[in-house]
Amino acid sequence: MKNAFKPILAMVFAFMSSAHAADDALVARGAYLAKAGDCIACHSAPRGKPLAGGLPMMTPLGAIYTTNITPDPDTGIGRYTEEEFARALREGVAKDGHNLYPAMPYPSYAKVNDEDMHALYAYFMHGVTPVRQTNREPDIKWPLNMRWPLKLWNVVFLDKGVYQNKPGKDVAWNRGAYLIQGLGHCGSCHTPRGIAFQERGLDESSSTYLTGGLLDNWFASNLTGEHNTGLGRWSEQDVATFLKTGANAHASAFGSMTSVINNSTQELTDGDIAAMARYLKSLAAAGGHGGAPYSYDPKATRVSLTRPAATDSGARVYTAYCMHCHGVDGRGFAPMLAPLAGNPNVLEKDASSLINVTLNGTEELVLHGVPAPYPMPRYAPVLNDQQIADVLTFIRGAWNNNTPAIQVEDVTKMRKATQAAR
Ligand code: HEC
Ligand code: HEC
Ligand code: HEC
Repeated sequence: MKNAFKPILAMVFAFMSSAHAADDALVARGAYLAKAGDCIACHSAPRGKPLAGGLPMMTPLGAIYTTNITPDPDTGIGRYTEEEFARALREGVAKDGHNLYPAMPYPSYAKVNDEDMHALYAYFMHGVTPVRQTNREPDIKWPLNMRWPLKLWNVVFLDKGVYQNKPGKDVAWNRGAYLIQGLGHCGSCHTPRGIAFQERGLDESSSTYLTGGLLDNWFASNLTGEHNTGLGRWSEQDVATFLKTGANAHASAFGSMTSVINNSTQELTDGDIAAMARYLKSLAAAGGHGGAPYSYDPKATRVSLTRPAATDSGARVYTAYCMHCHGVDGRGFAPMLAPLAGNPNVLEKDASSLINVTLNGTEELVLHGVPAPYPMPRYAPVLNDQQIADVLTFIRGAWNNNTPAIQVEDVTKMRKATQAAR
């Protein structure tokens, strides 16, 4: 080779490898954003290949199945252009033009900005291993399976337009709002849904936004500043610790929140988590049922637990089955074992989560590959519906929790609903 070419070639190689490094960085950023969006939680079936779809999702019309979003050209999204990918995420329209059911949280992803959309696309095309796996048709029967009404749904309920920074709010607040409302799609569980399955509010301008919602038999807690059932008694640091580790001094993650911690929030940077906590803690108290702020008082409960009366079935079940983990004082051994005294989920009027977790325990919380040491056991095979209603009623009255009793019919209903889903 002529010497004169050497510097030129060196420059070309340097340019090519830096372009490659830039691509790698883009794909890595896309991978991070896919974590923030928790795509894997929905787009993977239990024991299935990651992102190859097939997870059933129950809708009021019947089950639908998530799709293969690996870059396989025939069965996945390998032939999607960036525009088509962005349209699927923001408007819920697939490549061939059919509308997606809003079980895909596109009303939230609509807020994702172009730069992040570009990185996500790069990751899905170049960072994900293609898997050949054909999509499964929904179980919804004609005529309810017709997708054109979804176009009308979008006209009424879809808020187009990416997130715009709110003037007067600091950088962290805006970053938090962007992540919570957008990729985090926290409202898809935590905001109550209306009659057409729409979220009743997509940001803090709505007084129902993040005030708690029931989905798949779990009640996703109120995340506003409400002082009993919401995050009013939590500090910003408490919120951040919960999102990073799935537990803090007030509560532990369980139910559908566990997979959010397992696949998404534990992987986010401390800066992003702090921003999310900042935004959540700025939400004005809403929802809940009023009442004085909770204050801890163990006295009366200690007496009824030391020698439970034969007629106090709730206290007896608690001493026999729950006390060694959750404590006489109801404080458990937080953050390892969840406290029940003053726990927002215990104080919540909708008892679905309490009943469900007592019947079915919870999916394992896994932090950096290590499963939680003492997960909440399943009591469906051990306790009958009356005993579960009694022990939860006891817990709702103990340690000054002061929350209404639980009816046995609600336990029976939850047992049926969750056993059918097994
Ligand atoms: C809460 C569950 C859920 C989450 C989270 C989710 N999706 Fe989906 N997604 C779905 C469902 C369900 C469908 C299929 C809907 C249908 O068939 O109408 C879907 C469809 C899609 C489609 C259309 C695919 C096709 O086959 O044409 C794309 C693309 C997509 N999702 C990408 C993503 C990306 C990227 C993320 C993460 C940023 C994500 N999804 C997160 C539930 C989810
Ligand atoms: C798939 C549904 C789902 C999604 C998505 C979801 N959550 Fe949750 N979340 C729940 C459920 C159910 C609970 C109640 C059980 C518990 O405390 O872990 C909960 C509880 C919480 C709690 C504890 C509240 C308390 O009072 O104990 C916080 C904080 C929280 N979620 C924040 C978030 C944030 C932030 C996001 C978005 C990044 C999010 N969640 C997304 C279902 C969800
Ligand atoms: C082996 C220890 C253990 C026993 C025994 C136990 N629990 Fe739990 N419980 C846990 C843990 C740990 C959690 C937090 C979720 C998780 O990580 O599994 C929890 C969570 C809960 C929650 C949700 C609280 C929250 O964080 O919001 C309720 C309600 C509950 N348990 C009720 C009961 C009842 C009722 C009994 C007895 C019938 C019982 N537990 C027995 C360990 C236990």
